[in-house]
Amino acid sequence: MSSPEPKRAIQSLVSYRPEVAALPEGRIIRLSVNEGALGPSPKAQEALASLGAELHRYPQQIDRDLVTAIAEAEGLNPGMILPSNGSDELIGLLATAYLEEGDEAIHTQYGFLVFPQAIRIAGGVPVVADDDGLTVSVDNILASVTEKTRLIFVANPNNPTGTMVPRDDIERLIAQVPGHVIIVLDSAYAEYVDADDADYTNGADLVERHDNVVMLRTFSKIYGLGALRLGWGYFPPAILAVLASIRGPFSVNSAAATAGAAAMRDRAFIEQNLDHNKVWLPRMQESIRQAGFEALPSCVNFFLIRFSADDEAAAAHDFMRMRGILLRGMKPYGLPDCLRMSLGTEEEMEITAAAFKDFSSQRRQAS
Ligand SMILES: Cc1ncc(COP(=O)(O)O)c(C=O)c1O
Repeated sequence: MSSPEPKRAIQSLVSYRPEVAALPEGRIIRLSVNEGALGPSPKAQEALASLGAELHRYPQQIDRDLVTAIAEAEGLNPGMILPSNGSDELIGLLATAYLEEGDEAIHTQYGFLVFPQAIRIAGGVPVVADDDGLTVSVDNILASVTEKTRLIFVANPNNPTGTMVPRDDIERLIAQVPGHVIIVLDSAYAEYVDADDADYTNGADLVERHDNVVMLRTFSKIYGLGALRLGWGYFPPAILAVLASIRGPFSVNSAAATAGAAAMRDRAFIEQNLDHNKVWLPRMQESIRQAGFEALPSCVNFFLIRFSADDEAAAAHDFMRMRGILLRGMKPYGLPDCLRMSLGTEEEMEITAAAFKDFSSQRRQAS
């Protein structure tokens, strides 16, 4: 007897699997999924705890208080905000809504792996635009546009490279792409970019000026709410209406909405995270360099470490894992000589820096 076959489009899928697996017994330092270093805001935890007596209630389909909190904090139009079950859900909905079988969607070479997965599941054809080194190339994206292109996905700043594309380039992309193609600016790490950096845009103002530009955001990074699955997007009204019509009616649960609104209003906690990042990003990169490895530049809460060879990266991955430190292997992203590390607490960073020193001496002794 043969099993029922799924649709052809997903038979060749390489499923995206983040490294969140359990580690050996004992203390675990998880630096593999770019989670916020300082955990969730205490205000979000308090708000969550107050929810118990209401658990029998269905959530609002679009939580008004959450939308208000986002709109106020970001200075945006509440009518253009759609919350979601993680920003992953919006990536999937965009692909489902706008790709007919065989339509093309562009994603970038060292870009977030959920993009090609969502494109394939929807029945579309993923088209890769090569990066320029480790930075998204707007020229290569433009050269990849064909009559069949319907969507372009750009994470800015980009995961896993930690690099960003300046506003001028994003504006050039929008100006040169036909209006029926949607440009998705995934700004999952926008909060980490230096607020004084005039070169950067999270894309919100561009959404307000163009009918084919959307911006995606998440509560899983600086807001520290990955467990609750909460994201949101900023959309031109026509696109918002389409996505809202196919989104599960209750895809954002009450716990996520309640904690999310409290986290969004806890601006002091966000500042604390930013201060932490400002100190520990350069400090950790310096420790890695002193241990003899290459720490690549980054404008966010994670960075790539480049090793002299693929097997050295694999050895470092294993060595750290045995110490209870989980880093992200970059083979699935086509960077097998790299590992990605997100920042953790001060103590976690000190333990990790010491472990890199030990790894370095072990390698020197072995050679
Ligand atoms: C670029 C990018 N977009 C989206 C996401 C997914 O965020 P969420 O947890 O909201 O689904 C991630 C998470 O790693 C990411 O790196």
